[in-house]
Amino acid sequence: MFDFAADPDQPKPMLYNALARAADALVEGERDTVANMANIAALIWQFVPRLNWAGFYRAVGDELVLGPFIGKPACIRIPFGRGVCGTAAATGATQLVADVHAFPGHIACDADSRSELVVPVLAHGKVIAVIDLDSPEPARFDEADAAGIEWLAQVAARAI
Ligand code: SME
Repeated sequence: MFDFAADPDQPKPMLYNALARAADALVEGERDTVANMANIAALIWQFVPRLNWAGFYRAVGDELVLGPFIGKPACIRIPFGRGVCGTAAATGATQLVADVHAFPGHIACDADSRSELVVPVLAHGKVIAVIDLDSPEPARFDEADAAGIEWLAQVAARAI
């Protein structure tokens, strides 16, 4: 059993710091990349409030392929440059989208999604995956969420 507790309502930098340390502990000594992505996705889902989708897309060739996630079944393949995830993968830059309907090319996997945060997972300067969070709440994510998920992406980069 992984015994970890965190107050989801504490200040975001504290919450994400605790989550990054918990993620580090979860992946410690485990080389299986699917298991590590699954546990990091589960950790995000359990402790980051007001999400309807949380998980990974992996960079495979010049497209993203669905990885471990929690939420409704989603699009499997996304070309680099398409949608929010493909834009994060193509640019290597975090995408903070307050209103998904206003994002050109947004790919609707779950009609409930209103805002989205996509963070690239970088290894040796190359995008190897993205972490995608969706929320049914408009403008759910801010810079503190982006910075926090970037910490988790650094843990993921060492573990996948
Ligand atoms: N909305 C994403 C697609 C992935 S789902 O949200 C899980 C996008 O536009 O890239």
